[in-house]
Amino acid sequence: MIKAIKGTNDILPDEIQYWNHLTNIVLNQMNIYNYKEIRTPIFEQTELFSRGIGDSTDIVSKEMYTFIDRSENSLTLKPEMTASVVRAFIEHSLGKQFGLNKLFYISPMFRQERPQAGRFRQFHQFGIEAIGSHNPYLDAEVIQVAFSILQNLGLKDIEVNLNSLGIPEERNKFAEALKDFLSSKKNELSEDSKNRLESNVFRILDSKNQHDQELLAGSPSLIDFLGEESLEHFNKVKELLTIAKIPYSENHKLVRGLDYYTHTTFEILSSKVGAQSALVGGGRYNLLIEQLGGTSTPAVGFAAGIERILLACKAEESFIPAKEEIDIYLIRVDKELENKIFEIGTYFRYNNRTVEFDYLSRSVKAQMREANRLNSKFVLFVGGEEFSKGEVQLKNMSDGEQQIVHLNNLDSILSIIK
Ligand code: HAM
Repeated sequence: MIKAIKGTNDILPDEIQYWNHLTNIVLNQMNIYNYKEIRTPIFEQTELFSRGIGDSTDIVSKEMYTFIDRSENSLTLKPEMTASVVRAFIEHSLGKQFGLNKLFYISPMFRQERPQAGRFRQFHQFGIEAIGSHNPYLDAEVIQVAFSILQNLGLKDIEVNLNSLGIPEERNKFAEALKDFLSSKKNELSEDSKNRLESNVFRILDSKNQHDQELLAGSPSLIDFLGEESLEHFNKVKELLTIAKIPYSENHKLVRGLDYYTHTTFEILSSKVGAQSALVGGGRYNLLIEQLGGTSTPAVGFAAGIERILLACKAEESFIPAKEEIDIYLIRVDKELENKIFEIGTYFRYNNRTVEFDYLSRSVKAQMREANRLNSKFVLFVGGEEFSKGEVQLKNMSDGEQQIVHLNNLDSILSIIK
C-alpha cells in the first residue's frame, strides 16, 4: 500500500473543523490589525534561502528539500516564508508603492527534520511581515498580533520570551567574548556545540544538551554588549508590551535559528505540547532586504506553527469547534420518489439551504438516523398518503413540531429554515 510520506499529515474532515476555526480567528485578527494577505510560490531558487536564512543554520545545512529540476535549476520547497516575502517585496517594488507594507500569510512549509510530536516535514505556518519601519511600536504590534490570536483561541498556558540581538557590531563583540569564555571548556561541549563554536557560536546558547547549559553558567550575556540605541529600542518594546498587557519574560539566551535577526527576537511557548514548545517565533530583521538585493529597509515579523498551536489547544481544551449541522434532510418514504427528492433538494440548494438526502437506498428508519447524525435542523418526509394529496411533512428536530406543507408552497419552508 502506498502511504503518506513520513512527517506529513492528512487533515481529515473531523480535524478540518479545528483548522477552520483557527483560520477564521487569524483572518479576523489580521483584519483588525490591518495586515494584507500575500501568497508566494511553494518553491523558490535555492539561493534565496541559503543567502536569506544563512548557510550555517540547521535549516539550510540539513533540512531543506532541495532538488535539481529538468532545466538544471536548483530549487527548494520553502522552509519558511520571510525570505519569500522579502523576495516578492523587492521584485514588485512594494516599498515604492507604500511606505509601510503590513503583510500576512498562511502556507505550508517544508523541512526535513526528524518527525516527532509537533515536528513535521510538511507543516503549516501563519505569520506576518511588517516591512518599512524601524519604529519599536511595530515590534510591539507584531508580538501583540501573535498573542491576540493565541488568546482568541482560548490558550492560557502561554509565555512570551523576549530578547534583543542588537546590531552586528554588538553581536560580533559578544560572539568573541562567548568564544573566549567557552574555549577553555571546548572539549566538554557536545559534538553539535563544538561544531558551532566556530560556525555559529550563538546557537550554543539554546543548546538542548544539559551539560552544555551547565558549562554556560556565568557566560557573558548579550544584553551587556548592546549600545545605547539598541537598549533604547529594546526598552521601548518592553514598555509597549506592558501597556498592551502582554506578560513576557526576558530571555537573553533566545537567539533563534535563523541568521537574519537584529534587535528584537521573541518566541511564544506552551508548556502543554512537549519538547517542541515554541508555538511562535519572530523578530526584527533590518538587514535582510538589503542582503537580498533590495534597498535597505527595516522589517519585523513572526511565524506561528499551526499544528503545534492546535496541539496546545487540544491539550488545554481551549475551544470546541462549532457543531456542524445541516438545514434540512429529505426523507424518501417511497422508493420511487427519487426524482422528486432530487427536485426538492435542488430547489433548496438553489436557494442556499444546506440539504442532504439518501444515496444508499436506505430504509426510512436509517434515513432518520442519518438526519440525526448530521444534526439536521429539519427533516422533510416525502411520500405516503400525504404525497398523494400533493403534500409533504416538515418536522422541526429541535422541538419535534410537525406541519403539513403543500408541494406548491415550498417557498414557505424557506422562510422557516432560513
Ligand atoms: P521558525 O522559528 O523557524 O521561524 O518557525 C516558526 C514556527 O513554525 C515555530 O515556532 C513552530 O511553531 C513552527 N515550526 C517550525 N518548524 C516546524 C516543524 N518542523 N514542524 C512543525 N512546526 C514547525 C520562522 O520560520 C521565521 N520565518 C519567523 C519570522 C517571520 N521571523 C520574522 N518573520
